[in-house]
Amino acid sequence: MVRTLTSNEARRYYERFALKQDRQGWYEDAALDWLVAHGDFDQSNNLLEIGCGTGQFAATLLGRYLPDHARYTGLDISAEMLRISRERLRGTGARLLQCDVTLPLPIRDGCVDRLVIAYVMDLLSESEARTLIDEASRVMISGGLLCLASLSRSSSGGLAWALSRLWSMAQRLAPLRVGGCRPIDLAGALEPEIWHIEKRITVQPWGVASEALIARRL
Ligand SMILES: C[S@@+](CC[C@H](N)C(=O)[O-])C[C@H]1O[C@@H](n2cnc3c(N)ncnc32)[C@H](O)[C@@H]1O
Repeated sequence: MVRTLTSNEARRYYERFALKQDRQGWYEDAALDWLVAHGDFDQSNNLLEIGCGTGQFAATLLGRYLPDHARYTGLDISAEMLRISRERLRGTGARLLQCDVTLPLPIRDGCVDRLVIAYVMDLLSESEARTLIDEASRVMISGGLLCLASLSRSSSGGLAWALSRLWSMAQRLAPLRVGGCRPIDLAGALEPEIWHIEKRITVQPWGVASEALIARRL
């Protein structure tokens, strides 16, 4: 069985890593740009981001895509990530809360129309990821869009295939070295009775494969 980080280990790791988080764009940006292009964010009234990190994605959405009246809430376990987010998002009305997203979310039922989880599912255990997706289905309205991005297992062969296997091996040997993250199959976490996958893509900037997908809450 894959050993993932406990919530405490993840918190301690990301407190230290926070100042480096924005340097991950070389492999994250292609998937995040795709989510921006396909998430219909201009139609959102109430967006929730899980593991919002330094607020970089939120700043893009609030600055250029979300309507002025839209409400943004970001959740993260790391106080340092939230400190950076608060500075970055000052004056935008963003609501930022420290919490562990492997536990029930501090959000009421059926109120969220866009839920973003970028590069967080890949550091959770399978059962934690299942719990989080159950919580996503609880807090989202029917018709809302779940916008996911994560490291992915490449099936295309070549450099991306080799790198995704190397990354998985590194995560098994020393999970703390890679922030607990490993390539996963995002779509596998979504029950077809609850989620309709509208669009998905695999991108491979610099040979690192990521998957992004948009699923509609049925
Ligand atoms: C790889 S970073 C991704 C940050 C951001 N979404 C991005 O794409 O740049 C993972 C984020 O998830 C947060 N995180 C990890 N485990 C968590 C947990 N159990 N509950 C809440 N946040 C968590 C970390 O603090 C960190 O900000």
